[in-house]
Amino acid sequence: MNKYFISLLFTFSTIGIIYSQNTATKRLQEDVINVKIDSLLSLLTLEEKVAMCHAQSKFSTKGVERLGIPEIWMSDGPHGVRAEISWDSWDYAGWTNDSITAFPALTCLAASFNPELSAQFGKSIGEEALYREKDVLLGPGVNIYRTPLNGRNFEYLGEDPYLASKLVVPYIKGVQKNNVAACVKHFALNNQEHWRSTINVEASDRALHEIYLPAFKAAVTEAGVWSIMGAYNKFRGQHTTHHELLTNKILKKDWGFDGVVISDWSSTHDTMEAALNGLDMEMGTGTDGLGTTTSNHYDYYYLASPFLKAIKQGKIDESVVDDKVKRILRLMYRTTLKPNRGFGRINNKEHHMVARKVAQEGIVLLKNENNFFPIEDKKGVTIAVIGENATRSMTAGGGSSELKPQFEISPLEGIKQRYKNAKIIHAMGYHTGASVYDNIIPSKLNQDSLRVQAIETAKKADIVLYVGGLNKSHLQDCEGDDRQTYELPYNQKEFINQLKAVNPKLGMLLVTGNAVETPWLDKVDGLIQTWYLGSMAGHAIADVISGDVNPSGKLPFSFPKQLKDNGAHFYGELSYPGDGTNQYYKEDILVGYRWHDTKNVKPQYAFGYGLSYTDFSISDIETNKKKYNTEDIITVVCNVKNIGNEDGAEVVQVYVGKKKSKVKRALKELKGFNKINVQSGTTKTVTINIPVSSLAYYNENKSGWDIEKGDYIIYVGNASNNIIKTLPINIK
Ligand code: BGC
Repeated sequence: MNKYFISLLFTFSTIGIIYSQNTATKRLQEDVINVKIDSLLSLLTLEEKVAMCHAQSKFSTKGVERLGIPEIWMSDGPHGVRAEISWDSWDYAGWTNDSITAFPALTCLAASFNPELSAQFGKSIGEEALYREKDVLLGPGVNIYRTPLNGRNFEYLGEDPYLASKLVVPYIKGVQKNNVAACVKHFALNNQEHWRSTINVEASDRALHEIYLPAFKAAVTEAGVWSIMGAYNKFRGQHTTHHELLTNKILKKDWGFDGVVISDWSSTHDTMEAALNGLDMEMGTGTDGLGTTTSNHYDYYYLASPFLKAIKQGKIDESVVDDKVKRILRLMYRTTLKPNRGFGRINNKEHHMVARKVAQEGIVLLKNENNFFPIEDKKGVTIAVIGENATRSMTAGGGSSELKPQFEISPLEGIKQRYKNAKIIHAMGYHTGASVYDNIIPSKLNQDSLRVQAIETAKKADIVLYVGGLNKSHLQDCEGDDRQTYELPYNQKEFINQLKAVNPKLGMLLVTGNAVETPWLDKVDGLIQTWYLGSMAGHAIADVISGDVNPSGKLPFSFPKQLKDNGAHFYGELSYPGDGTNQYYKEDILVGYRWHDTKNVKPQYAFGYGLSYTDFSISDIETNKKKYNTEDIITVVCNVKNIGNEDGAEVVQVYVGKKKSKVKRALKELKGFNKINVQSGTTKTVTINIPVSSLAYYNENKSGWDIEKGDYIIYVGNASNNIIKTLPINIK
């Protein structure tokens, strides 16, 4: 044996020893903690145990002072740590030291297709939560994007379970590195806000396991998430927050979840169900309408006095509360009771840079005729930045994810700071209320004069950049209800036509967390999807429109041309939003691009689509073999050449489909992707590994996963509707 080989062997065996030592140490630590938990449990009275299972204030639960058991403090999530809320009401507490970094909303993170960035996002937001002395961060949200009307889509990771899983795992690990628990939400099937607290969802086992659960499963089994939040809606007649199948069986038994199930705020409905179906901690219940008026109203919670009474009467076994308290204590040992927990950081340069980077990488260039973008910063050129969304705060509003950032750079401000030579002029065009920069336009001007003024401003410019879209008001991208129409509000279609009529050089920034109808598309030469980008919004936008950063984001959901082109809407009201009592997920597993592909309904913009300022050629696409066993890994290799003049990043996407199948299948499903930076004129090799086991479908007859043998097709491309090569493979 030569020296090199011996040293290699030594290194491997050392790594092996360290690895097994690490797992042994971890197991030992867990054993020690379990002993501590058991001994604490034996010291607690029944009353104290029950008191730990429900809120003592809007965002905290009781500790047990005599035993040194701390309170647990929580905060929303998911794209920044929310400002302090009052003890007993939803009012802000009015602190002056609770401003934070607003990170981009999660649709933007999903559009980055970059798990490494998700890790940085999680680590940074976790540090901010720790600084704010939070034990649980109420996020991330992974409910699947089923309809573009869902008011809360902006908080989630898009329409594809694989993409959502790949991004949620590093986020959670990043948060929890700080000894702060992530709380993945809302478990499960909370895919619309309309009637969210009453609607009963009916969906098949396949839709459940193949579409709606995988991101939660990854959060539990891959990221080891320490808490999970139930949802408001019902599933098959039972409230999801205390659900026999979802919480008890799938989450706790099948996936082995050892953390805490927390209710959504006011999603608990019954003592026996909550106790027996796996809910560990009840939050936000407006008991009997007593709300904030009774001083001890927390005692009326389902998991408070009624729970205690039921245990005392022998209707519920004491082991039930013991299990909940053990989980809660375990969460404490992972967070607030962790030795040397650290202090966290807030509003620092590094977090701002992470926010900016996620924003830069998530922004999607949708259309770029005549190379409208990037816009050069030239002397003598006047750029009109038009639209209320150019100055409106997008961290305010939207519901529980609303933030109080230390600062928020608006698109207009970002553009003004970046463009030093060109002249930037601005007009609002319409005004819908609360805006951080209200002083720009005197409020007495009515909408007509705003419109006229904007048209006049557009006439004076060489280039017009219209900043439109939705906002965070009720019935738009906002919690509590859904959008009422697919089109843009405030007559924006007509407004865009008017702008085009006076100035043909028109481009648009679409500020939304959702797809919208685009009948005005031929009026704009350039179109960029900017999402809600948080503190650094304006800087990131300026980075991309100036060309300092080459866009590389890809849509994490499909943009249907019309609402009925979306699978959920195709089936009419019973499918969305339901009849007021029930709704049926009739499109079944064909959510998002799975519907468009399989039914051959062309979207306006497809899942996975996004342009760049450069061009890539993807070639030499191959699989390592043609025939595989069920335990094998399929390796897809290709070369990505940057054939344009700018450095840039491309996302190679691998989808898999099975034409002849004994069960219903989508034409193809995303099973792997890889985002890669490639310098102009150079080529990089990309490798994507797909375990054959991930091609399994959920077999409803045996309530388990099955891999079908036979011929499959591998689709490789850079968008779900731009497949460059298909390769046949066979599974033996
Ligand atoms: C939301 C949750 C949120 C909670 C606390 C609920 O209305 O659905 O996502 O974490 O409020 O603010």
